[in-house]
Amino acid sequence: MTGAMTMQITRRAALGLVTGGLAAPAFAQRRRELDVPFVPTPHSLVEQMLDLAGVTAEDYLVDLGCGDGRIAVAAGQRGARALGVDIEALRIQEAAAAARVAGVEGRVRFRRQDLFATPIHEASVVAIYLLPDINLRLRPKLLTELPAGARVVSHAFDMGDWAADAEEVHDGRRIFLWHVPAVAGGSWEVTATDGSYRLLELEQRFQEVAGTLSGDGTVRAVVGRLRGRHLVLSAQDDGAPLALSGTIDGADFLPDAAARSGQGGWTGRRIA
Ligand SMILES: C[S@@+](CC[C@H](N)C(=O)[O-])C[C@H]1O[C@@H](n2cnc3c(N)ncnc32)[C@H](O)[C@@H]1O
Repeated sequence: MTGAMTMQITRRAALGLVTGGLAAPAFAQRRRELDVPFVPTPHSLVEQMLDLAGVTAEDYLVDLGCGDGRIAVAAGQRGARALGVDIEALRIQEAAAAARVAGVEGRVRFRRQDLFATPIHEASVVAIYLLPDINLRLRPKLLTELPAGARVVSHAFDMGDWAADAEEVHDGRRIFLWHVPAVAGGSWEVTATDGSYRLLELEQRFQEVAGTLSGDGTVRAVVGRLRGRHLVLSAQDDGAPLALSGTIDGADFLPDAAARSGQGGWTGRRIA
C-alpha cells in the first residue's frame, strides 16, 4: 500500500457497541429496588442453560439476580467457580445454605448486591432470568464489561436487536445464548503471504459485520459474523472465492490454522 493510499483510508470507528445504551454512570448508581420478582428457574432448565452455555470446570459464572442460588450451585457442581448476587437478603441466605448442602461453598459465593453494580469483567459466563426491559438495560454492561468470547445465557427473555447466537425451547420455556463479540469494526490491513496488501474496512452491529476489501484496483463487498472473537468473512459478489476466517486478538486478526502459511495465507492488523 502506498503512502497516498494510506492517507485516503476512511477512518471509521468500530461500530459503537455502547451506542443507544445507557451512559456508564447509570451503572454506578446504587439501586435498591427489586427490578424483578423471585421466580426460580426449574432445576432441569438450569442444567439445560448450563449445557447451552457449555459450562465446565474452566468457567467462572456470575448469576445476576440469583434467587435461591440454584444456577450458581449447579455450575459449582460442574466444577466451575460461581458468584450469585441478589438484592434480597433472604435470597442470599437461602443460596448460601444451598451451596453448603451441595458441598460447593468453596467455589460458589453469594453476595447481596444490585446486579447493575456487580463487576462482571472476570466472568466467562453470565446467567440471567430477568425481564425484557431489564435485559435491555443490562445489555450495554454485558457488551462492554465482559471479555470478548464470554457467554450470556438467559431464561425466557431475549436482548432485543442483539440476536441470540443460539436458542432452545424446553417444555415451552425459551433459553437464549450470546457470545460477546470482539470489536471488529474499523480498518484493517490484510497482508498476504505473497506480500500484497488489502484494506479491509468493516462496520459492526453486535456480531454482524459488513464492509469492503480493497486493493489492486478492486473493491469487493464483504459480510461476516463474529462468534466471540472468531470472525468469518466472505465476499458478496460472484468473483473469486474469498474466505477470511480467523480470530481477533486486540489489534491482530489472526487466520485460522489452514490460512497461516502457504499459498493464500494472510494476517490482519488493525490500522484504525
Ligand atoms: C426471576 S428471579 C431469578 C432467580 C434465579 N436467577 C433463577 O433463575 O432461578 C430474579 C431475581 O432477581 C433478583 N433481583 C431483582 N432485582 C435485582 C437487582 N436490582 N439486583 C440484584 N438482584 C435483583 C430478585 O430478588 C430475584 O431473586
